Amino acid sequence: TIERTLILVKPDGVRRGLSGEILRRVEAKGYTLTAVNLLDASPELLAAHYAEHEGKPFYQPLVDFMLSGPILAVVAEGQGVIPGFRSLAGATDPTAAAPGTIRGDLGRDWGLKVQQNLVHGSDSAESAAREIALWFPGL
Ligand code: CMP
Repeated sequence: TIERTLILVKPDGVRRGLSGEILRRVEAKGYTLTAVNLLDASPELLAAHYAEHEGKPFYQPLVDFMLSGPILAVVAEGQGVIPGFRSLAGATDPTAAAPGTIRGDLGRDWGLKVQQNLVHGSDSAESAAREIALWFPGL
């Protein structure tokens, strides 16, 4: 079945001018972009988005990083796009991420308290529905 996922180009990706390169890879894979929005996320939105990480040592650095600049929020659609985009993105740690992936090709470890790893992708159908509703309340 055709599914939808939420992709975020995080502030490091937007700041480094990689939004186009990242979306190019998503489209080249054959997925369709159905909604895009460049925005400054609010603390409330990020608290809801990252609720499952509250209390972890990287939680506050993560929220601070996500508040550090604009984020490009994207809904992408296609057969298997939820695991498919996670596969395109590569491992969470950009140093470990395989070459050929977004994080493996374009990301690195900056020695900071949080992984600045360019992108987020929903990890399940339930997460995708929840996250799309948060980032695109109109959809
Ligand atoms: P994301 O897919 O947006 O979900 C949670 C984020 O927290 C993750 O990407 C990373 O940016 C960050 N993160 C996850 N695990 C760690 C960790 N062990 N140390 C630092 N940052 C992390």
